[in-house]
Amino acid sequence: MTNASVARENYREDVAGRANVEDTPELLAYYDELETLDAGALWTVANKIEPWQPKSASVPVLWRYDDLREHVLRSVDLVSPEKAGRRVIYLNNPGRRDFAAAVGWLYSGLQVMLPGEVASAHAHSASALRFIMEGTGAYTIVDGHKMTLGANDFVLTPNGTWHEHGVAGDGLPCIWQDGLDIPLVNTLEANFYAVHADMQQTVAYPVDDMINTWGNSGLRPHGREWSKPYSPLLKYEWAPTYEALLRYAKASDGSPFDGVMMSYVNPLTGGPVMQTIGASMQMLRPGEHTRAHRHTGSFIYQVAKGAGHSIIDGKRFDWKARDIFCVPAWAWHEHANGSESDDACLFTFNDLPVMHALGLYREEAFGDNNGQQRLAA
Ligand SMILES: [Fe+2]
Ligand SMILES: [Fe+2]
Repeated sequence: MTNASVARENYREDVAGRANVEDTPELLAYYDELETLDAGALWTVANKIEPWQPKSASVPVLWRYDDLREHVLRSVDLVSPEKAGRRVIYLNNPGRRDFAAAVGWLYSGLQVMLPGEVASAHAHSASALRFIMEGTGAYTIVDGHKMTLGANDFVLTPNGTWHEHGVAGDGLPCIWQDGLDIPLVNTLEANFYAVHADMQQTVAYPVDDMINTWGNSGLRPHGREWSKPYSPLLKYEWAPTYEALLRYAKASDGSPFDGVMMSYVNPLTGGPVMQTIGASMQMLRPGEHTRAHRHTGSFIYQVAKGAGHSIIDGKRFDWKARDIFCVPAWAWHEHANGSESDDACLFTFNDLPVMHALGLYREEAFGDNNGQQRLAA
């Protein structure tokens, strides 16, 4: 190919300190020579690879549960958990299809299991969580610890742990949301996957032993140690989480950007539940409409309770219970409860632990219009 037929990349900006080199026949020939050496002139791409601020390839998306649910249930007739490994419909952001990401470096999907079904035990370098959407009798076993799960419960399957999911024979079909950092771990080229030699783990402890041991507010079990880099709690139940939000709302106005919000934490450190993924639950009080802000980090929300809308980069997304939506890095966002009488609750997971660990967290409040965005035309 010749220079005449292919326009060469040259990202010029007429700003002091930024690359602004005009093409000449001599330079174009020089760039061609560099290309044969698998090299290039930085000034042609510097403005592209070093943007002034984060430029997310992800787009804001709302996945309506009413639209997805029947397709998720249909997968039950189409594939078995044995053959599929995991029977999951994943959320594929139009800007992130190459990575099978729901947003940024986060993966998410909806998994369905019928009563009596058990998935094979496995382990991977990606950290994972699940948030239960519907059904009864669901359980997860993590390194021999079996946990029973109900709607709006949140469970961890951290990096490297053996884990499997199932539904009790006398339960109801269960659907839950999976969240993992697969795109991040693959980008770091550090992902391993293993299937358990016995296909199923032995339950080695009393059922729900970890939440009974570590999940008592303000109390630490005497003589018990925990040195792993993730929360020993493993499961966070809905009832005490909602209760905590209601109690916190009596003591605080909460955040102007997030309403009454509490993070799920490792009770031993106060830090995030896992090394790469954080999670929180926030309550928007009746009629509450938050101010907009933006920050680094990618966020996936599931509506745990109520109905309302969020405005993301000027676009309005109306949601109700079980809908899922994403907020890409550095996108303006604000949330509004649609009810004047009931609260609305949003579950979120995110890659904030990565942002904080690498010193990359930045946050900014929306300045004009009383802190709220104008809708894009
Ligand atoms: Fe897994
Ligand atoms: Fe936010």
